[in-house]
Amino acid sequence: MKVLIVYDSQSMNRNTEKVAKAISNVLKERGFSVDCIFVKEANAANIRNYDCVLAGGPTHAFRPTKPIMKFLDEVAKDKVSGKLAAAFDTQIQSRFSGNAAKGIHKRLENLGFKTIMPPLVTYVEGKIAEIHLKDGEIEKTRNWAIKIADTFSKSKTNDNKP
Ligand SMILES: Cc1cc2nc3c(=O)[nH]c(=O)nc-3n(C[C@H](O)[C@H](O)[C@H](O)COP(=O)(O)O)c2cc1C
Repeated sequence: MKVLIVYDSQSMNRNTEKVAKAISNVLKERGFSVDCIFVKEANAANIRNYDCVLAGGPTHAFRPTKPIMKFLDEVAKDKVSGKLAAAFDTQIQSRFSGNAAKGIHKRLENLGFKTIMPPLVTYVEGKIAEIHLKDGEIEKTRNWAIKIADTFSKSKTNDNKP
């Protein structure tokens, strides 16, 4: 199982990057091959090299940021068949926040990816200049990633069934 984690992150504290790296660490600990790449350094054509894409970014103006959606716009639909995916975001904990993860999840499904997990929403707090992840969010992220690793392991077992 080869996994691409592609993420946007814009604030000084690079919160979504921390979430992306926490996911990456869990999957690597479980023995999976992972490339964790900042969206501006990622090439959508390389999706063909991966079995699974985990895409995420901060919530800005209630939705995903432009760089991550531009990246997904550049993914060729015919190269997606059979690939797995899931979405994650960072956002402020309020019912008025909007939800980047939901938007990314929907886009992944529209492209033809098979989503394997409900989107991961992680919460940030503080003034915009020093906005940071709330306590417990990295642990929540690690638990989400463990479930993804379990899904991979199960699909491997099923692959080996006659
Ligand atoms: C221009 C701008 C718009 C934002 N809009 C929202 C929003 O609509 N909803 C929300 O929950 N957070 C919003 N935020 C806060 C971001 O969610 C927060 O900065 C982000 O999660 C931090 O992640 P990062 O460190 O990876 O950039 C906004 C932040 C900026 C700078």
